[in-house]
Amino acid sequence: MGLVGVVFSTVLLISFFNNISADKPEPTAEEEFHLSPEPLALASNGPFGKFDTKQLQRGFQVYKEVCAACHGLSLVAFHDLEALGYNEAEVKAIANQWPIEVPSVNPETGEAATRKALSSDRFPSPYANETAARAANNNALPPDLSLITKARGGGAAYIHSLLTGYRQQPAELLQKFPAAKTPEGLYYNPYFPNLNLAMPPPLTADGQVTYAPGNPAPTVDQMSTDVSAFLVWTAEPKLAVRKATGLWVTIFLLFATVFGYLAYRNLWASEKRKVRVTGALDPKNQAKSASAKAKAGIEG
Ligand code: HEC
Repeated sequence: MGLVGVVFSTVLLISFFNNISADKPEPTAEEEFHLSPEPLALASNGPFGKFDTKQLQRGFQVYKEVCAACHGLSLVAFHDLEALGYNEAEVKAIANQWPIEVPSVNPETGEAATRKALSSDRFPSPYANETAARAANNNALPPDLSLITKARGGGAAYIHSLLTGYRQQPAELLQKFPAAKTPEGLYYNPYFPNLNLAMPPPLTADGQVTYAPGNPAPTVDQMSTDVSAFLVWTAEPKLAVRKATGLWVTIFLLFATVFGYLAYRNLWASEKRKVRVTGALDPKNQAKSASAKAKAGIEG
């Protein structure tokens, strides 16, 4: 039995080390050149985070003027924009002037038609359906952006890095991985998981969007930051309320813990102090020994 065991474990050990040294997979271009998102400082970050509504308005403007041509926001309604500081009339005007109309039915013929958006409508998708969207985008599907900051690791930081991360494919990559050359119709971006994506760089020039006076200069970096902040809001409009509530709940729980501990000390105070005396100190034993001593006539 012992011999069988020794042979078995020797074979196991040999195969174990062989496996480790031999069939190591070749490194891939994605493994070597993919980058993690750069950190992005936003007012909504951290446990005390709040939205900067001025920034959200700028981000909405970037979405409206650039991204909305290809991406829908199917979970956000126009009237939700009131949370960004627009009043009812402004929201009505934004919906009414939205360049993409909402699917509808012609009341007379019953045929499919489109109409101008109302405040109660959600942001319409720019394409009739997925087939049309793919046909217009080199067979790639521009995802709905409502929840994109929740759907991608890194959230807003990833969106910002992706928007500012387009560049020439490094010569080193082509040298090492000639087969990984960016295909025709795709764009190299080291923040995208497979390094090449079908979205052409959407923000290419400073001043592509004109901000109202009193706002920071619309550099590519600023516009990318603002639209990323806006997409944090679309994915979680109640973020500030959640964080503020969480803070008070934590403070309450801290107090409750302190009071709970004090109550525990108070309730058990009379029980814990009692010490059971044993041996020579036990009053019963002392009485016994006193009577024994008295009987034997011993003093003390
Ligand atoms: C010309 C059309 C077009 C415009 C304009 C455009 N996008 Fe895209 N976007 C796409 C396409 C197509 C994809 C899918 C890419 C792929 O899967 O390769 C995409 C994908 C994305 C993704 C998902 C990336 C991922 O991890 O899957 C994000 C985020 C995104 N776009 C954000 C934006 C933002 C923000 C803007 C505005 C500043 C914008 N896009 C403007 C076409 C566009």
